[in-house]
Amino acid sequence: MLKTCMLLGVACVLLQVAADDDFGPGVWKVQFIEKCDQHHHKFIFDIKQKKINRTHDGFYGDLKLDETFDDTFGIRVDICKHVDGGCKQYQVLSDDCFINFVNKYAEENAKVALTFAGVYPPEFPIQSNDYEIKDYVFDYSELPSDSWYGYFCAKAFVLKGSEEVGCVEVHVEFMKIEEDEDE
Ligand SMILES: *[C@@H]1O[C@H](CO)[C@@H](O)[C@H](O)[C@H]1NC(C)=O
Repeated sequence: MLKTCMLLGVACVLLQVAADDDFGPGVWKVQFIEKCDQHHHKFIFDIKQKKINRTHDGFYGDLKLDETFDDTFGIRVDICKHVDGGCKQYQVLSDDCFINFVNKYAEENAKVALTFAGVYPPEFPIQSNDYEIKDYVFDYSELPSDSWYGYFCAKAFVLKGSEEVGCVEVHVEFMKIEEDEDE
């Protein structure tokens, strides 16, 4: 569930990132989501993406929270852009408070994701429990239609103090619209 919040936050975050790359209209695509190496992480979560069609993807996942997720958790998002020869650091965003970060970048999306995970009310703090996300269908057309073109990788870390307690890696592409593409 947290991963989903992050995933949706990432697209929004990319919009806040100033860059000298081409900017314009296009379409979003989440290429894939990966677990980070998390054997030492406290929060073990899993998420799967199921491609539906060009404009929609479904997300499934679960999260075991063994303590209340409140404003003592922070977040750091490392964003790199795929270029020839690797992934070049693009931007690092962080906030001592995960909740503030989500509210700043992806409040509405987070509410929907929390609702799908059975969190009621769909707000932070989140009580400790086992949560499962089922059939969360995300419509990419809800994302802004103008952004910077490129293929980005965002690693989002959940932090407790300076310790990384959870992580997810999201690969997102923003592409120009092909004029003559078949529907
Ligand atoms: C894509 O899938 C969504 C969700 O099932 C559906 O609402 C939408 O109409 C579909 N779009 C196309 C172009 O098939």
